[in-house]
Amino acid sequence: MTLTIDRLSLHADGVAHGPEGTVHVAMVLPGEEVEGEIEAGRIAAPRILTPSADRVKPPCPHYCACGGCVLQHGSDSFVAGWKASVVLNALAQRGIEATVVRVETSPEFSRRRATLAGRRTKKGTLVGFHARASDTLVEVPGCRILRPELLAKVPALQEATALGASRKGEIAFALTLSEAGVEIAAKGGKDMDPALFEALADLASRHDLARLSWGDETVAARRPAQQVFGRARVTPPPGAFLQATAEGEAALVGFVRQAVGRAARVADLFAGCGTFALPLAETAEVHAVEGEAAMLAALDRGWREAQGLKRVTHEARDLFRRPLLPDEIDRFDAVVIDPPRAGAEAQIGEIAASRLGRLVHVSCNPVTFARDARRLLDAGFSLEDLIVVDQFRWSAHVELAARFERR
Ligand SMILES: C[S@@+](CC[C@H](N)C(=O)[O-])C[C@H]1O[C@@H](n2cnc3c(N)ncnc32)[C@H](O)[C@@H]1O
Repeated sequence: MTLTIDRLSLHADGVAHGPEGTVHVAMVLPGEEVEGEIEAGRIAAPRILTPSADRVKPPCPHYCACGGCVLQHGSDSFVAGWKASVVLNALAQRGIEATVVRVETSPEFSRRRATLAGRRTKKGTLVGFHARASDTLVEVPGCRILRPELLAKVPALQEATALGASRKGEIAFALTLSEAGVEIAAKGGKDMDPALFEALADLASRHDLARLSWGDETVAARRPAQQVFGRARVTPPPGAFLQATAEGEAALVGFVRQAVGRAARVADLFAGCGTFALPLAETAEVHAVEGEAAMLAALDRGWREAQGLKRVTHEARDLFRRPLLPDEIDRFDAVVIDPPRAGAEAQIGEIAASRLGRLVHVSCNPVTFARDARRLLDAGFSLEDLIVVDQFRWSAHVELAARFERR
C-alpha cells in the first residue's frame, strides 16, 4: 500500500489517508510517497518511495531511536516554515489572519536547560532521553541539541543513578548551565539518608557541579548558580524555569523590549525569575507577578544587587485563580504576559475588559495563544507583530511572541 503524506500533525507526524482512515507516519515530510506496515493506525518505520526536496540526512546518529528530535530529516528552512504554519493555522482556526515576520531558530548545541532520565539496569546504569513514545532510554553521546557543558556531565548522572535510583524507578535530572557551571536538580531518586547525602556531596565536588539538589533537598551549593538578566544577576531556585537557550532568550527579550517601547510602567505577568522584568527595568518601572514565591525572591535579590535599574515590585499570585483585575491593569502602559502551555484564559478575560493599550504576549502553545488572541481581537485589540522563536530545534515544540495594540 502506497500512501502520500498530506501534512504534519502538531506532533510532527506525517498524516495520510489510508484504506481505513487517517494513518500517522513517523519521520516523513508532506508530499512524500511512503509504504510500510500499518499498525494501530500508524506506520512506525516507513520506506520512503519519493523523498521530498526538503529531506536532508539527519545529522545525529541517534536520530532513529531517540525521541528528543522528530524533525531532523527536514531542512532548516522546511522546519522554520512548518513552525510558522503551525502558528498561522492555529490562528486561522480562530478566524485570525496574520503574518509571521521572522523565525528565530537557535543553533545546534545550544540547549542550556534539559532533562535527562537515569535508570539502573542489570549491567549498570542508563542515562539519556526517552525513545519515541516509549519508556526505553536511549544514550545520546554527541547529542547535537545540548550545550557540550551539559553533555560533559553525563558521567556524573550515571554515578548519581547508580547511587540513588531505586530498582525500578527512573530519576529525572534537570540540568541547567549557569554562569558558575552546571547545576543538577534530581527528582524521583531514593529517599535521602546520611550515606547518600555524603556520596552525592562528594560527587558534586568531583564533577565540579555549581549546585546539586535531590528532591527538595540541596546537597551542594558550591557556587551561586547565577543567570544574567540584563544588568542583573539572579540565582534561581533549583530546577526553576529558564528559557531553553541563550539565543532564544535574547530573541524574546529583544522582541519584548522593542514591543514595550517607551512605556514607563509595565506589568510582567508569569514573570518567573525576571527574564523580561529585569531587562525592562532599565527603562521602565516594572511590577512582576508570578505564582512561585521562591522565583520572585530570586528576582528581587537580583534587582536589589543590580546597579541603575528602575523600581521593580513583585507579587506572588495565582493568575489562573486571581488574575489582575481591570482597575489594576489600567495602572500600566504595557503588559507582558508569558503563561505556561495552558495559556492565560482568565487573565486575558480581565485584560479584554480593561483599558490597556499594549500587550506583549509570549507563548509556548500556539493553540492556547490563538484562543487568547481571539478574545483580545474581539475586545478591540489588533495583532501587530508576530515572530516565532524556535528554542527546541528539531522538535515539534513551537514558541512565539506577539504585540497587540488597542485600536
Ligand atoms: C513560561 S514560564 C515564563 C517565565 C518567565 N517569563 C521567563 O521567561 O523566564 C511561565 C511561568 O508561569 C508561572 N506560573 C505557572 N502557573 C501560574 C499561575 N497559575 N499563576 C502565576 N504564575 C504561574 C511559572 O512558575 C513560570 O515561572
